[in-house]
Amino acid sequence: MSILDVLHKPVGIPEQYRTLSEEVMVQRVSEIKKELGERLYLPAHHYQKDEVVQFADSTGDSLQLAQLAAENKKAEYIVFCGVHFMAETADILTEDDQTVILPDMRAGCSMADMADIHQTERAWKILMERFGDTILPLTYVNSTAAIKSFVGENGGATVTSSNATAMVEWAFTQKERILFLPDQHLGRNTAYDLGIPLEAMAVWDPISDRLEYEGDYENVKVILWKGHCSVHEKFTLDNISEIRRDLPDVNVIVHPECTFEVVQQSDYAGSTKMIIETIENASPGTSWAIGTEMNLVNRIIQQHPDKKIVSLNPNMCPCLTMNRIDLPHLLWSLDEIREGKKTNQITVDEKTARFAKDALNRMLERA
Ligand code: 13P
Ligand code: SF4
Repeated sequence: MSILDVLHKPVGIPEQYRTLSEEVMVQRVSEIKKELGERLYLPAHHYQKDEVVQFADSTGDSLQLAQLAAENKKAEYIVFCGVHFMAETADILTEDDQTVILPDMRAGCSMADMADIHQTERAWKILMERFGDTILPLTYVNSTAAIKSFVGENGGATVTSSNATAMVEWAFTQKERILFLPDQHLGRNTAYDLGIPLEAMAVWDPISDRLEYEGDYENVKVILWKGHCSVHEKFTLDNISEIRRDLPDVNVIVHPECTFEVVQQSDYAGSTKMIIETIENASPGTSWAIGTEMNLVNRIIQQHPDKKIVSLNPNMCPCLTMNRIDLPHLLWSLDEIREGKKTNQITVDEKTARFAKDALNRMLERA
């Protein structure tokens, strides 16, 4: 077996799923879905591949998927087509007798991996010593259940790209400062929109345990965790100037996980839901350059032949971890359920889930 074969070998999935034709897999997934009926619920994030999205009971951004998980009390099995933190959120928000399955355990999120609970506890201790009890922690949902739990236990809340503005506003009614984990760009873009100057934002480096800030610490309002999305950081100012040169009437729309400079130079920024709806509502003949994940951009392009739509970065790749969920893994998960097995179940322990749920509910109450 060559090194490429090794790299492409799906981990965990039985060999037989690798040789099935797409036609056979589509037919079998359709049959099992029909057979399980309402016992099964299959939500999919907008970044999922078309081969998976075609079977989704609902699609949505992170906020919608969390809301839908909290509302669905019927399904025995929730086969979550998204990434690990989303499936954890679904497990926290669903009932104890509902089982959440992630079809491929390797579907993580590199941004969520940039903050672990030990780093967070260390940071909190140092920041408390420096600033006293003046900080409210907020975490982007793209984070582990342990971090959501830490945030909930300390009076804070989760945020998504759809409600970050409202949640940051709320946080400042609670405390003088916020610690925003783990995406520095969403934190900076949101705080700046609310009128907080860049000079009032410090960056916490979890590798060196240091606060990056030049000036008087008294002026710090926002402490940004030094994390980012490697997919969205690939959109650059050069991409924007090139597209504006080639398509002078273009509207540039990006996800707020893009850098501050890119968001500032764009015409619009918002969640995946906001991007989809903005293009849906745009007039025929308008031109758009989209700065987000490629599976979604390609789907939007196909759905709107009446508009000129391109990716803001022509060399963009899909989110590799979102892409781990594919038709073979979906079919495998459903076959396992049919045999009564809970393969790739996502479970958050009770203690972690309790405070994480507090953090999520503080957000859902205000969403
Ligand atoms: P949305 O909540 O906007 O769908 O974003 C989720 C995400 O992971 C973006 O990278
Ligand atoms: Fe995580 Fe970025 Fe992928 Fe979203 S696009 S799931 S933030 S790695």
